[in-house]
Amino acid sequence: MPSTCVAEMSSGVPMMDQLHHDIFEALEKVSRSTDQAFSNEYRIFVAKMEYAFRREDQWMEEIDLPASNLHQEQHARVLGALHNVHSRVMDGELRLGREVVDHLLPQWLEFHISTVDMALALAMQLAQTETPHTPSIQDTSETSQEARPALATEPTSSRAVSSCRPSPPLPDRIPKRSPHAPHS
Ligand SMILES: [Fe+2]
Repeated sequence: MPSTCVAEMSSGVPMMDQLHHDIFEALEKVSRSTDQAFSNEYRIFVAKMEYAFRREDQWMEEIDLPASNLHQEQHARVLGALHNVHSRVMDGELRLGREVVDHLLPQWLEFHISTVDMALALAMQLAQTETPHTPSIQDTSETSQEARPALATEPTSSRAVSSCRPSPPLPDRIPKRSPHAPHS
């Protein structure tokens, strides 16, 4: 089952916390799904990941975050891996899909959120402090169904980051396709 550590972690930016909450909620749903429903739930989950990463990429660009390409590269790499796994799940490698959902991806998310996402959240708060009326961190998402809370002013010291022990970001730990893997 996906980790809950980062789900309890506050970045100080409520709209980012909402994205993370939605991701873990979707991850838990796919983890609990039946074998028959797994592929479709996985597809829905990946779509939520794509949306969350797109929002973060936009925020980086809007505040002109230095070295944002490194963060965006992490997004691109894990999305590529997730799409690859979905293809294999559809070919019958359900066990691999569950390993990714239950273990590998929660570890990756925990590391990613507690490092680069937290750095982004801090930069967003600084940008808001320096230019309070900047449109950069307003939630103008096309799929947002309700008004998101305004950018938080929660101090960095109140975060729960230190309570987590993140694992290394290892999307490459996904095993290569076996020549004997089942095919549809
Ligand atoms: Fe991120």
